[in-house]
Amino acid sequence: MSLAGDARVLLSMLRGQPRSGSHAERLDAFYGPQASQYDAFRERLLQGRAAMIQGVMDTLLEVRGGLAGAHVVELGGGTGRSLLFFGEQLDALGRVDLVDLCAPLLDEARRRFADRRQVHVTTADACTWRPGAPADAVYFSYALTMIPDWRAALDNALAMLKAGGVLGVVDFYVSAAEPPAGLKRHGAFTRFFWPRWFAHDGVRPCPDHLRVLRERLPEHQLAECVAPVPYLPLLRVPYYSFTARLPG
Ligand SMILES: C[S@@+](CC[C@H](N)C(=O)[O-])C[C@H]1O[C@@H](n2cnc3c(N)ncnc32)[C@H](O)[C@@H]1O
Repeated sequence: MSLAGDARVLLSMLRGQPRSGSHAERLDAFYGPQASQYDAFRERLLQGRAAMIQGVMDTLLEVRGGLAGAHVVELGGGTGRSLLFFGEQLDALGRVDLVDLCAPLLDEARRRFADRRQVHVTTADACTWRPGAPADAVYFSYALTMIPDWRAALDNALAMLKAGGVLGVVDFYVSAAEPPAGLKRHGAFTRFFWPRWFAHDGVRPCPDHLRVLRERLPEHQLAECVAPVPYLPLLRVPYYSFTARLPG
């Protein structure tokens, strides 16, 4: 972390995403100037990634008896930082596909995993890309909120999983005004503020992602949390961590 690096990231975030161009062009324009500083800043902002990936690993252990040879896909994987939360288990995996639309972030990922033969970095849309064979686990780490057609991306993720496969999601959200029993209810300020704050950067926290995940995968593990935000000491942003196993 450096102040100059943070300043570059904050400037990109203040500028936001351009309004014109394709989705991929807007992601490139937004992330390009901050790509080399991305990980240091997001380390403090994108909380819960380690816990979600631990949930994916624990479920893979239950389903397969181990991680050796497992095929894992990260959709919207960016620089690949989240993959490092697999720790030493990363080397046990048989194949990892890291898929993203943003060229500058994928350049960081390609550098990072240049010496890891099992990690494949692909430039593609999470809504349509498919692996050559069904995967054991698919996860989204702070990506669903940045994918305009997130329902298509979720359908695609579920379709590429083996029977009994594992889905993990960690992301920002806000609750519904009247959430289902047992779920957290956020106050009116939280529900108003965060969607507007993030919209500028193309991030869309809302109640719908978690609602659809719970409907589609009723057997799941869910944690609803809040995280500190760099340079906004009085604020906490809500996020959830979700892990589920397909039937079969
Ligand atoms: C907040 S970043 C998270 C990156 C990474 N998963 C992490 O945890 O650091 C969101 C990512 O989603 C990617 N993204 C957005 N829309 C996408 C799409 N349609 N297909 C693939 N990736 C997409 C962005 O390029 C970006 O890398």
